[in-house]
Amino acid sequence: MIKKVGVAILGLGVVGGGTYQTLTEHREYYQKTQNVDITVEAVLVRDKQKAMEKGLPKAIVTDNIAEVIANPNVDIVIETIGGVGAAKDYVLAALREGKTVVTANKEMICKYSHELERVAKRTGCGMYYEASCVGGVPIIRTLLDGVQANRVQQMMGIINGTTNYILTKMTQEGAEYADALKDAQKLGYAEADPTNDVEGFDALYKLSILSSLAFHTKVPYTKIFREGISKINAKDIAYGKSLGYTLKLLAIGKNTSQGIEARVHPTFVPDAHPLASVNDAFNAVYLKGDAVGDIMLYGRGAGALPTASAVVSDVIYAATHSDVKYSTFKNNATAEACVKFVSDFESAYYVRLAVDDEAGTLATVSGIFGKCGISLVAVSQITQKKELDDEGKLRVPLVIITHKTTENRIGKAMAKINASGIGKVQAAIRVEN
Ligand code: NAP
Ligand code: HSE
Repeated sequence: MIKKVGVAILGLGVVGGGTYQTLTEHREYYQKTQNVDITVEAVLVRDKQKAMEKGLPKAIVTDNIAEVIANPNVDIVIETIGGVGAAKDYVLAALREGKTVVTANKEMICKYSHELERVAKRTGCGMYYEASCVGGVPIIRTLLDGVQANRVQQMMGIINGTTNYILTKMTQEGAEYADALKDAQKLGYAEADPTNDVEGFDALYKLSILSSLAFHTKVPYTKIFREGISKINAKDIAYGKSLGYTLKLLAIGKNTSQGIEARVHPTFVPDAHPLASVNDAFNAVYLKGDAVGDIMLYGRGAGALPTASAVVSDVIYAATHSDVKYSTFKNNATAEACVKFVSDFESAYYVRLAVDDEAGTLATVSGIFGKCGISLVAVSQITQKKELDDEGKLRVPLVIITHKTTENRIGKAMAKINASGIGKVQAAIRVEN
């Protein structure tokens, strides 16, 4: 006999709209292929008129959350409001009522999964959040059900569509940062507040969730190093390109013998690196497991239908599985005391200096790097043309690629160059080979 499942969608924006469309257009298909009849019993909005103008039947549109929670026909509540205000209150109310929750909300899961999971366990219902990380790419299911035989040692990826779209436009078309951001917002990739995307918070929340699942221990977002793309200068993208590098916002998680390392920052990767050709709003994640070796997942990381794909997959999973899997680790707000986190991590560097075009400058610069214990791979005066630097002085750009070094060492070298009087550091970007 076909199983009947009623759902409510909270919020009818990009993801909520895509979810409604997918569930209604594919209803018969899921009946045939999944043996489940999923009906949308309620859609919670703030403006009922606006929702009905989008073609939703009047009978299912409501602005009353209590009515949704009390509705006996609603088995699963899909949260697509976002943020940690009303969304969290509504999710908690649904879980307390014994309704399984499916959410696309990375910020809420990253910050409050412990609190939500406690309630879900108490009432015996499920909490699913595939759509919260990497849009339509099934990374969470892969971590939970695909690579559980492994100790996952490392993950590295492009996990924010907006910044990848912006960097792609800047790299391929020489677009201005602000114009590329506007396009990303129009296409529904960016968060309501794009600061979350461009400053790396969105990727930070996702990395916290993914590395916690991968390493089976809570990796709180407060332990993750974060740097966004808003200060990236188009000049560095072009200089990097001329040296054979492509700029990406990478999220990196490593489980090493020294501890857990987790970071989000703009990163140059060699043009031949597979991540260099992941463009537009596409995302990709590499996982390294001790048994399987390397796995790469690739797909659309944002947008209405790709994200709805993940939401609806969770709904189908919840509808067809009676057992619920909760975290395999101590899911607290903070990290366990015994878990170490690495902050002075290692990376190679691209450094752009503005220096005086005089005899002895190069020797001074390489001397400073040498004294700080940093070995150089390449030094290039990309152009003879003098440029105005941050201090308004006409200087020449000098681009340096270092071997792997630590954050402490590079910080010391940059401070010494700035104090040397021969030039100033204009940009420092990590490089992953
Ligand atoms: P969005 O387009 O801004 O949609 C949010 C919707 O929630 C808006 O329609 C808003 O209504 C509604 N809303 C806000 N407060 C409400 C309340 N109290 N009651 C009822 N409705 C309320 O955002 P989105 O892009 O769909 O993102 C939603 C969630 O999905 C976020 O957690 C986001 O991180 C996540 N996500 C997004 C994507 C993506 O590609 N966009 C991908 C993966 C995950 P109004 O129209 O009245 O403001
Ligand atoms: N704003 C997010 C992004 C949506 O650009 O990746 C997907 O989580």
